[in-house]
Amino acid sequence: MNTFMNNKSWTVQGKYVVITGATSGIGLAAARELAIRGANLGIVARDEAKANEVAAQIKAMTGGRTTVDVFLADMASQQSIRQAAADILAVCPRVDVLINNAGAMFVSRKLTDDGVEMTWAVNHLAPFLLTTLLLDRLKESGHARVITTASHSHKMAGKGIHFDDLHAERLYRFPQKSLGGPTIRYAETKLANILFTSELARRLQGTGVTAHCFDPGLVATNFNSNNKGWSVRMTMAVMKLFSRSPEKGAETMVWLADTEEISGQNGGYYTDMKLTKPSVPAESIEAAKRLWEISEEQTRFPKAD
Ligand SMILES: NC(=O)c1ccc[n+]([C@@H]2O[C@H](COP(=O)([O-])OP(=O)(O)OC[C@H]3O[C@@H](n4cnc5c(N)ncnc54)[C@H](OP(=O)(O)O)[C@@H]3O)[C@@H](O)[C@H]2O)c1
Repeated sequence: MNTFMNNKSWTVQGKYVVITGATSGIGLAAARELAIRGANLGIVARDEAKANEVAAQIKAMTGGRTTVDVFLADMASQQSIRQAAADILAVCPRVDVLINNAGAMFVSRKLTDDGVEMTWAVNHLAPFLLTTLLLDRLKESGHARVITTASHSHKMAGKGIHFDDLHAERLYRFPQKSLGGPTIRYAETKLANILFTSELARRLQGTGVTAHCFDPGLVATNFNSNNKGWSVRMTMAVMKLFSRSPEKGAETMVWLADTEEISGQNGGYYTDMKLTKPSVPAESIEAAKRLWEISEEQTRFPKAD
């Protein structure tokens, strides 16, 4: 039986939540809180040992009342994401909430095995691919939600995504050691999270599935720890002084997964549990449509096996 008798009864208790990036920071804090609220979890992670440890901790914390499944995927590899999606579809008869949260920034330009610039691959194409692969299961689950972790830093992308520099060759030519290029690239991917959410929402209209994204604020996590060098370490150390805790950063994510208040809303960007206006480029329907088409091409979706 569909657990959603009507639109007034949404709560995350008893629902199945697939979440990426739950081995650290905001995602880990959210996974714990969602389990406390009675959700069952599917953790998608690249590090098996870390994910199993998180799963064991959460199960112990809830006295075994929560199911925590682990699915392995490196978000930088489309093949790996496809495998994880297939595993989820094989194991999970329903997916009520999908949280696209894994993300990173790369100070040096790298390409993935798929030939895509790494920040774009992990922060934007991975959520796009995982969501599209799980979309039918989300629809079958009745009312369902797709939640994506965006950022206030999308505003640093300026006038919008440089569609003529998709692999960020120009952007990374900023002076060496400058955070300018990589920071703008990161901002573009967070802008992509918002545009993806709005286009997904338009495509989902009338299906019972809704899409939402949010800004967690500045949060003290392991973010940027993949980048080496004293300047990165110094920057992160200083930023941590002004950062909120992972639990506070996870608040809006947990709220979006659990609240009844957003029933009827679709495609919004939230900050501190409030619908917020993003930048002007983040509201472009044309850019959102273009991004969707490019993302389909870049993930060769639907893929002929
Ligand atoms: N921290 C902030 O101030 C802030 C502000 C705005 C938005 N955000 C966004 O919040 C999200 C979570 O970041 P965080 O701050 O919590 O950072 P974090 O502590 O570094 O956590 C990032 C998570 O993403 C996972 N991840 C990264 N690359 C991956 C890959 N290739 N494959 C699979 N998993 C991968 C990490 O896995 P491992 O544990 O294996 O590394 C980890 O679980 C990101 O989307 C970030 O852009 C953060």
